Amino acid sequence: MKTQVAIIGAGPSGLLLGQLLHRQGIDNVILERRSGEYVLSRIRAGVLEQGMVDLLREARVDKRMDEEGMPHDGFELAFDNRRVHVDLKGLTGGKSVMVYGQTEVTRDLMEARESVGATTIYEAENVQPHDLETEHPYITYEKDGETCRLDCDYVAGCDGYHGVSRRSIPEDRIKTFERVYPFGWLGILSDTPPVSDELIYANHERGFALCSMRSKTRSRYYVQVPEGEKVEDWSDERFWDELKARLPDDVADQLVTGPSIEKSIAPLRSFVAEPMQYGRLFLVGDAAHIVPPTGAKGLNLAASDVNTLYRLMAKVYQEGRTDLIARYSEVCLRRVWKAERFSWWMTTNLHKFSDGEDFERRIQQAELDYYTSSRAGLTTIAENYVGLPYESLE
Ligand code: APR
Ligand code: PHB
Repeated sequence: MKTQVAIIGAGPSGLLLGQLLHRQGIDNVILERRSGEYVLSRIRAGVLEQGMVDLLREARVDKRMDEEGMPHDGFELAFDNRRVHVDLKGLTGGKSVMVYGQTEVTRDLMEARESVGATTIYEAENVQPHDLETEHPYITYEKDGETCRLDCDYVAGCDGYHGVSRRSIPEDRIKTFERVYPFGWLGILSDTPPVSDELIYANHERGFALCSMRSKTRSRYYVQVPEGEKVEDWSDERFWDELKARLPDDVADQLVTGPSIEKSIAPLRSFVAEPMQYGRLFLVGDAAHIVPPTGAKGLNLAASDVNTLYRLMAKVYQEGRTDLIARYSEVCLRRVWKAERFSWWMTTNLHKFSDGEDFERRIQQAELDYYTSSRAGLTTIAENYVGLPYESLE
C-alpha cells in the first residue's frame, strides 16, 4: 500500500490530522494498534480552547459539538474557603472555552473519517517505521497474522506517550525533559447535575479537587490522591466525602452525589521531547509531550501541533514548499513550553506536595491571592487558559 502521509495512532491527534489533510486532498492512512471501541472507551479531558474549536470547524467536525458542547466564559479558583471568578471572556477580549469531552471529539472524528472513506487500519500490530532519514520512508505492521508494508512521503507519529514513533528516533538525536509529580488524580463520572455552571479548581489543605462536567446532567469530579493509591480502595462514598471536604462550604452543600459510572486514577507528569522531528517523522501530541491535566492543556496542545503540521503539509503539497517543513519542531516547541509552564504553575499552586510544609502552603496562598487580586494576574491566568495564539507560518 502507498499513501502520502502515514499516520500512526487514531487518538484525537491522528484522527484530526487525517481529517484536515483529507480535506486538502492529501492522501493519508492511519495505523492504530487498538480497536475503535477500545479507543472510545478511554475517558479523558473535556475542555477545548477556541483554537481547537476553530480547527474542528475547519475539519467540518463541529455539528454535535455545537449542539451538545457547552461554551464556558469563565471558571473559578477556590482557596481559603472562598471562590474567585476568572472571567475568561472579559479578560481576553471575548475568548472562551468549550466543554465537550475528548471521547466525543474522538467519536465525531471517527465518524467523519468513515464517511469520507479514508483508510484506518485498526488492530495493526508491531507497527514499525523505517528509513525515516530517506525520502522514501515506509512502515511495516502485522494485520491478521500477515506482515504488510505502507510506503509514504512522511510519517506523523500520533501514537501517544507509549507509542513506537518517539522510540524510533536514535537516542543521540533526541533529548527529553521530565518531571513526575508525587500524586495522581482520582476521577469519577456520574449522572448527577454539575455542582456549578462553571469549573471549580480547588486548593485545599487536604489536597486539590476539581469540579468539571460533561453535560447538564453528567458530572466529572477529581481529587488529588497520593502516588500508588488503588482505585479499589475508593468507594463512591469515600470519594464524595473527600470531595466535599475539599470544597468551599457553600459548594459542598450544593453537591449532588450518586453512583459513579467510571472511576480511575491518572498519574501526573510533565514531559517534552526535543526536537519533535527526525528526518521525515513528525511527533504530534502526547507522543512528544505530556502536561499534568491541571491547566486542561493536553488535548489542546495536540491540536496546535496538528494545526502546524497540517498547514506545513498543505504548503508542501500545494506550493512545493518543502523548505518550510524543517520549521515544524521549532514552531511547535515555542507553544509547547508555554503550555508546559502554565500546567506546571497550576499544578504547583493548587496541589498539596507534602505534609507539614507550612512554608510551601503559605507561598501557594500568597501566589493565588496575588494573582487573583489584580487584573494583570487574572489576565495572565485567563489568556493561558483560553490558549495562546497559534503562530503564523510565514
Ligand atoms: N502502533 C499504533 N498505534 C499506537 C501505538 C503503536 N505502536 N502505540 C500507541 N498507539 C495508539 C494508541 O492506541 C492511541 O489510540 O496511538 C493513539 C494515541 O492516542 P492518545 O494517547 O490519545 O494521544 P493523542 O492522540 O496525541 O491525544 C492527545 O491529549 O488530553 C491529552 O492524553 C490526552 O489523549 C489525549 C492527548
Ligand atoms: C475534565 O473535565 O476531565 C477536565 C477539565 C479540566 C481539567 C482537567 C480535566 O483541567
